[in-house]
Amino acid sequence: MAEIIDGKAVAESVVAKVTEATAALAGSGVTPGLAVVLVGEDAASQVYVNSKSRRAKECGFHSVQHNLDADTRQDDLLALIADLNADPRIHGILVQLPLPAHIDADAVIQAISPDKDVDGFHYINVGRLGTGALDRAFVPCTPAGCMIMIERVRGRDLSGLSAVVVGRSNIVGKPMANLLLAANATVTIAHSRTKDLPAVARGADILVAAVGRPEMVKGDWVKPGATVIDVGINRIPAPEKGEGKTRLVGDVAFEEAEKNAGAITPVPGGVGPMTIAMLMAATVTSAYRAAGKTPPRF
Ligand code: GUN
Repeated sequence: MAEIIDGKAVAESVVAKVTEATAALAGSGVTPGLAVVLVGEDAASQVYVNSKSRRAKECGFHSVQHNLDADTRQDDLLALIADLNADPRIHGILVQLPLPAHIDADAVIQAISPDKDVDGFHYINVGRLGTGALDRAFVPCTPAGCMIMIERVRGRDLSGLSAVVVGRSNIVGKPMANLLLAANATVTIAHSRTKDLPAVARGADILVAAVGRPEMVKGDWVKPGATVIDVGINRIPAPEKGEGKTRLVGDVAFEEAEKNAGAITPVPGGVGPMTIAMLMAATVTSAYRAAGKTPPRF
């Protein structure tokens, strides 16, 4: 049976390190500052944004949240970002996505200073990651969290290991592949157009599923002993719990996969809790860089 990687516990250990690093910076008169911007009233986004702001306060950060009306003009949002870019108390700026349809999300993301872009979505940070300049990059929080969990099982150096990332999104698949490559893994990105996906997956010592399709990765896609990281969060009907009930599942058929895997992340309780923890890690990292100090390695 596989080791179940406890994302909640790993996330708590990251947050503890962030809190410690924040306290250590206080001696230099610096408090990490995170600004979270929400436009509109999307219920799921409100929940995410509130937990990001709450976590930031728990870490000892200067935490500010801007809740803007759904009909906010793009120019007004850009003006707020310009203010936050110029504000020395703010080290991280996160604009919650999705944005309302009348706003050009890409224009907004590219307006964030690359050195405050804790989401790692700015082209400059995509380029830093792609060229292996990880000491200056911000990396998207979900793949950064996956990487920490992989390191806990396999160590920091993945030399000689084969990694397969299923999914090629800009937010998860592509940055994940770059992080694995930077750690010396031999990396394949597979996706919906890949020929014989199960056979490709079976070659993986490290298998990362980020496709957004419930339980698509079957047990017999998993090489014996593989490390399986499930990024998917899919809500599916659960009639066994009663009429109209639902449950969360990942992109991996967990019960089958855990029979073959050496280690596997559950859903919920795997990658999910890591994302906010890595946002906190990025913010304290940004504050250390701004203060000319070497940030801790998470
Ligand atoms: N919406 C869902 N996930 C994310 C994220 O990681 N960053 C931002 N900015 N918005 C999101």
